[in-house]
Amino acid sequence: MELRPIRGTHDILGQDIIKYNFIKKVVSDYANLRSFSEIQTPIFEFSNLFLKPLGEQSDVVLKEMYTFEDRNKDLLTLRPEYTTPMIRSAITNNLFEDLPIKIFGIGPMFRRERPQKGRYRQFNQINFEVFGSNDYLADLELITLANDILKLLLPNSKFNLNLNTLGQRKNLIEYKTKLSKYFDNNKNRLSNESREKIKSNPLRILDSKNDDDVELSKRAPSINEFIDNEDKIHFEELKKGLNLNGISFEENHQLVRGLDYYCKTVFEFKTDNLGSQDTLIGGGRYDGLIAKLGGPNIPGIGWAAGIERILLLMQDIETKNDKIHLAISNENLKNHLIKLINFLTKNNLPFYWNYKYNLKKSLAKANSKKATNIIIIGEDEYKNNFYTVKKLATGQQIKVNLDSIKDTLND
Ligand code: HAM
Repeated sequence: MELRPIRGTHDILGQDIIKYNFIKKVVSDYANLRSFSEIQTPIFEFSNLFLKPLGEQSDVVLKEMYTFEDRNKDLLTLRPEYTTPMIRSAITNNLFEDLPIKIFGIGPMFRRERPQKGRYRQFNQINFEVFGSNDYLADLELITLANDILKLLLPNSKFNLNLNTLGQRKNLIEYKTKLSKYFDNNKNRLSNESREKIKSNPLRILDSKNDDDVELSKRAPSINEFIDNEDKIHFEELKKGLNLNGISFEENHQLVRGLDYYCKTVFEFKTDNLGSQDTLIGGGRYDGLIAKLGGPNIPGIGWAAGIERILLLMQDIETKNDKIHLAISNENLKNHLIKLINFLTKNNLPFYWNYKYNLKKSLAKANSKKATNIIIIGEDEYKNNFYTVKKLATGQQIKVNLDSIKDTLND
């Protein structure tokens, strides 16, 4: 049997796991600063949680969900995104008594997409959500947060923020009807793939990368004509706020997002350095979604970032190897080694031993790993109850007992 990982999945190790843990730390610290609390939800849920909210005609639901029947016939799905599980969690844990809710989560998502650079079948997302505020300052806070986190993680990269408003859901529905008509009248000039979306999901045609579709979309009716005054003001205030925060953006009326639950503000952070999978962060408002899932009728807004895409852009993190290496010359001295290991562990001093009773091999390993200190145990050390600390940088050897070993190691 050939052993291989499932297509579109990957192990995270070496530099990537160092970066991944760094990302988690930066995100958690920043979330704490702005009082967002962490929620971890299970990686699988009842399929119904996703079907309607994400859109029965959305790519995710139509083609990409990992759904299976449990032994008791329940239909379960590996979560393809985090917003709906977050809402489910807020409902089932009674969090709505204390509004607004500011939460974040980090973890794996699953979509059966065609794998390529930056697009995987199991990938990790950072996700931030606010439930219960209509204020444009919530939009501003979330976009600022996304911008700040990207800057902390990718200080040398450039990204572009694309911004749009889709207006109220009822207006969006009107717009979709008009768009459907427009594309239907011009269907001969559409790609095959887009032709299939005329009735079911005309908004997605605006997103198509096919040249003919792009041409046709340029002359399509604009969402702008369908936006209520109140929503226009909300959007204008948000843009002023972004200017005030020094965050540059591009207004893009073609930006519609792939999941069905969006309305009003939508946004994406893109990069020029990743090829076709260039969206690092996507998000927006989803008023009505919380009520649809059985929660109170309150608005929501949030975003998700793809960790793997950030990893591709991140520079290597230099790691310092300050582990103390241990070297012992023969098996009869074991008790002296055990005493040392217990001491180091109790005192929080990181160490490494290669399970070899061979000074030469252990010293060579310490050298190759660029260790700073080696603690040597030979016959003399054992008989006279001391340890020899060798400083690799100078070759200096110091005889010490356990009481003073800490100071010697730190010198
Ligand atoms: P999304 O646009 O589907 O939105 O995904 C957000 C981000 O996840 C993308 O911009 C991308 O960086 C990453 N991503 C998505 N699919 C893949 C994949 N197959 N491989 C690697 N990375 C991927 C959502 O998921 C919404 N739930 C975001 C949101 C939160 N909206 C409101 N709150």
